[in-house]
This record gives sequence, structure tokens and C-alpha cells, in this order.
Amino acid sequence: MELINPLVQEYAEKFSSAEDVLLKEVSDFTTANHPEHHMLSGHLQGKFLEMASMMIRPRRILEIGTFTGYSALCLAKGLTDDGVLHTIELRENDAAIAKGFFDRSSYQERIVLHTGDAKDIVNKLDEVFDLVFIDADKQGYIEYFNLVFPKVRKNGFIFADNIFFHGQAIEAEPKGKNAKAIKEFNQYINERTDIEKMILTLRDGLYLIRKK
Ligand SMILES: C[S@@+](CC[C@H](N)C(=O)[O-])C[C@H]1O[C@@H](n2cnc3c(N)ncnc32)[C@H](O)[C@@H]1O
Repeated sequence: MELINPLVQEYAEKFSSAEDVLLKEVSDFTTANHPEHHMLSGHLQGKFLEMASMMIRPRRILEIGTFTGYSALCLAKGLTDDGVLHTIELRENDAAIAKGFFDRSSYQERIVLHTGDAKDIVNKLDEVFDLVFIDADKQGYIEYFNLVFPKVRKNGFIFADNIFFHGQAIEAEPKGKNAKAIKEFNQYINERTDIEKMILTLRDGLYLIRKK
């Protein structure tokens, strides 16, 4: 399912600030070298993550699913001067690529990259988060949400990506296990009363969640 009219997408990109040089390099490198390059947030969503982070001014950010580092570099732009972004990546190859880009950025000292399974690592982080970005395996979303929720401050935010799952999560009976998992996650989030939530119809759908 085509979620966004390509003309609208093109127009929005044209009338948005361009990606900075390093982000463009992350994107170009990933497109040229990674078979799953479609997973990268990209220009418009990256700009949104940057803008939102600039508005929130988080002291602590957690990202679950680093991939090649694009979204972490966008989110880091809003950090306070003493801010730190923790990002978790399961696959060593992706983590190594991301690290190469982080080391060349001005956030080298403030991005902490953890390599391993977020389901183990989140519990070990002794932090209170202002902003969390969930963007890893779709079948883990409910578990990630429940792991991070106690660590998010009151009025802190959780963003979760791919909430339409290419349009399949909207179907009455989605066939794929990832689409089913996202559909269940959306239902779960919608039924909770301890959060405020809205789905932003950006790219593949982004859940914006505020802890009450
Ligand atoms: C959609 S990509 C992330 C894209 C990235 N946030 C961006 O916008 O550029 C998902 C990533 O999550 C990672 N991942 C999957 N399961 C994970 C887990 N259990 N713990 C940590 N990372 C995981 C994958 O290896 C993959 O690199």
C-alpha cells in the first residue's frame, strides 16, 4: 500500500531543510551498501526526530534499534549540554557502521552505543529517560514499551516507528507476523489510560506517546 502520495513526499522534502553532510553520507552509504537500507528513517522523519528532540530538550534519550546510526544522530541534536543518548543495536556489523559515523560527529562523547539484545540491556541502564525511540524488531514492541515505561519520567515521551507496517497493520486480518505484532501493539497502546497518544501519519506511521 502506498501510504504517502509521492508528489506530497517530494514537495515536503523540497520545502524542508536539507540533511546535513554527515546524515547524507550515512544515508548514501547505507543505500549503497546495506541490503536493508529501507529501514533507515530518512530525510523527513529524521528532520521530525531532530525537531521533536529540539522541542523536548532531553537530558537522556534511549533508542532501541540503532541500525547505521541515522536516527540517533538526528535525535542527539536536541540533547541538553550535559545530555546523553543511549542507543542499542543487536547486530555487530550495523553497530560497527554506526560507531564509525558517531565517532566522526560532534556527539562522539554523548552517544553511548550498546551492542546486544535490548531486552537484556534496557534493564541494566540506570537512567530516567525524557525521550525513547522504539525502532527494533516489531514483535518486541510491547515488551520494549513495558521495559522502558518505568524508566520514563512523568511527561516524558516514547516514539514508536512503523505503526502502519506498510499499511498491513491497518488490515482487519494481517497475514505477516510483524504486521500482526504491530496491530496488537497499536491496540495495546490505544487501550492504556496512563498515557496520551497520537499517530503521526509520517512515513510508515509514528506513535507519539506521553507518559501522564
Ligand atoms: C528499523 S532498524 C532501525 C533504524 C534506525 N533507527 C534508523 O532510523 O536509521 C531496526 C534495527 O533494530 C535492530 N534490532 C532488532 N532486534 C533488536 C534487539 N532485540 N535489540 C536491539 N536491536 C535490535 C536491527 O538489527 C536493526 O538494525
